[in-house]
Amino acid sequence: MKVLTQLAENNRSWARRISQINPKFFPTLAAQQAPEYLWIGCSDSRVPANEIVGLLPGELFVHRNIANLVVHTDLNCLSVVQYSIEVLKVKHVIVCGHYRCGGVKAAMGNTQFGLIDNWLRNIKDLYAQHRAEVDSIHDPDARLDRLCELNVARQVSNLCHTSIVQSAWRNGQDLMIHGWIYGLHDGLIHDLGFYVSSVDQIPDLYRVVPAPAPQPVNAKVKKGAGAAART
Ligand code: CO
Repeated sequence: MKVLTQLAENNRSWARRISQINPKFFPTLAAQQAPEYLWIGCSDSRVPANEIVGLLPGELFVHRNIANLVVHTDLNCLSVVQYSIEVLKVKHVIVCGHYRCGGVKAAMGNTQFGLIDNWLRNIKDLYAQHRAEVDSIHDPDARLDRLCELNVARQVSNLCHTSIVQSAWRNGQDLMIHGWIYGLHDGLIHDLGFYVSSVDQIPDLYRVVPAPAPQPVNAKVKKGAGAAART
C-alpha cells in the first residue's frame, strides 16, 4: 500500500538522520536500555510521549492505554510497572493525562461504545464519587477537564497502592511518582503537584505490610522433644 510505503520511507530517513548525527546511537541502544522514566499515558494519537518531553529512544519506558488508567487487575500495565521499577530501576513514574480526553468524556455520558465501556467504568465510578464538585462547574469543557485532572490523581494513587511501588520504597529504592496533564490546545504539560516518594505519604489502609516470615521447620522438632520429655 502506498500509505505504508510512505511510512517505511519515513523510517529509513529517520534512522539515517540519527545515525549521521551519532553513528554509535543504534548499536549502543541495541546493547542495553537504561531509561530513568516510566510514562503512563493515554493512547490518544495527539499525545506522543517521547516527542512532547523531547526524549530520544532509550530514555523513556512507555505504557499507554485509553485514558491512562492504572487498574489493579490489568496484568499488562502492572507488568510494565514491575519490570521498569524492579529490573530497569526507573527513578520517576509519570502518569500523564490530557485535557479533553475522549475516554473521560465517554465515561461521563450514557452512549454505549461496546467492550470499552467496561474499561471506562473505572472513570464513571470516579465521576460518581466527585459528581457534586464536577457538575458544579458550568462550562462543559471545564467540567470534562476537571474530571481529567481527578482521573490523573486517582491513577497516581492506584500506582502508589501497588505492592510493586511500596516494595521498592521499603527496599530504599529512589522512586518518585508524578501526576501531569497535557494540553492538546497548546502542547504544554501542567504539573498537578503530586510528588509521592514514600509509604508515609499514602493512607494506612492502602499500605502493604510484608507477611511475617514462616516458622522455621525445627520448631516442630522442639514441640516433639517437649512431648517426649513429658512421658
Ligand atoms: Co485520552
